[in-house]
Amino acid sequence: MTKAVSKNIPVIAIDGPSGSGKGVITQRLARAFGYHILDSGAIYRLIGLVARKHGVSLEDEAALAALAEKLDVSFKTTGDAEDPLAIWLEGYDVTRDVRTDEAGVDASKVAPLAEVREAIRLLQRSFKRPPGLIADGRDMGTVVFADADVKIYLTASAQARAERRYKQLKDKDISVSLHSLFMSIRERDKRDMTREVAPLKPASHAAIIDSTSLSIDEVFDQALAIVTGKLD
Ligand code: C5P
Repeated sequence: MTKAVSKNIPVIAIDGPSGSGKGVITQRLARAFGYHILDSGAIYRLIGLVARKHGVSLEDEAALAALAEKLDVSFKTTGDAEDPLAIWLEGYDVTRDVRTDEAGVDASKVAPLAEVREAIRLLQRSFKRPPGLIADGRDMGTVVFADADVKIYLTASAQARAERRYKQLKDKDISVSLHSLFMSIRERDKRDMTREVAPLKPASHAAIIDSTSLSIDEVFDQALAIVTGKLD
């Protein structure tokens, strides 16, 4: 079979629903290959944050697109292997604010808006720099990097994803109900998968990994084998 790489800067696109493990797998692959990371979900989260900061309604498409176009954001490497990116917005470190569940919900409200998605297309493409890029999100392989060399769709049952999130929060002594996490994941899946613009779905020819009953090491081994097989 012909290998997929035809350009100088390889792009690996990893898409999938919330809690499927994309972030961890992206970080581990980036370390293995020495590539840059695009956390596209963080950009949608930032648009929600900046809108709240400037009092812009999450339904005002034109105003949100204008904010998105001028997004004053920088991603700084921390040197911390587990949390390698610090995110700065308008001169402030917002790394923690960006990761809250509320920011995720706001992100999924601004994400269906076509003008917003268009406004950040070039910003996302600008992350493609030597020696290569691993881009994670919902439409990396289908839209933003439709020309990616490797496309992986990482998924898991909503129950398994809710249980993982529950454990993460419990380990941090944050009390939540498993049922409410499950319902929130289902709701976000529905919004992401049924929207008209760039809905979440596997890109054609994407390799699909279902991590429901796999450990993170097993998922990483499968992803590594897929990427190595395509890039070699
Ligand atoms: O991946 P993360 O949970 O940070 O994404 C937050 C939200 O941003 C998703 O639920 C989705 O609605 C939106 N998103 C998107 N397209 C991407 C990445 C994220 O629509 N490429």
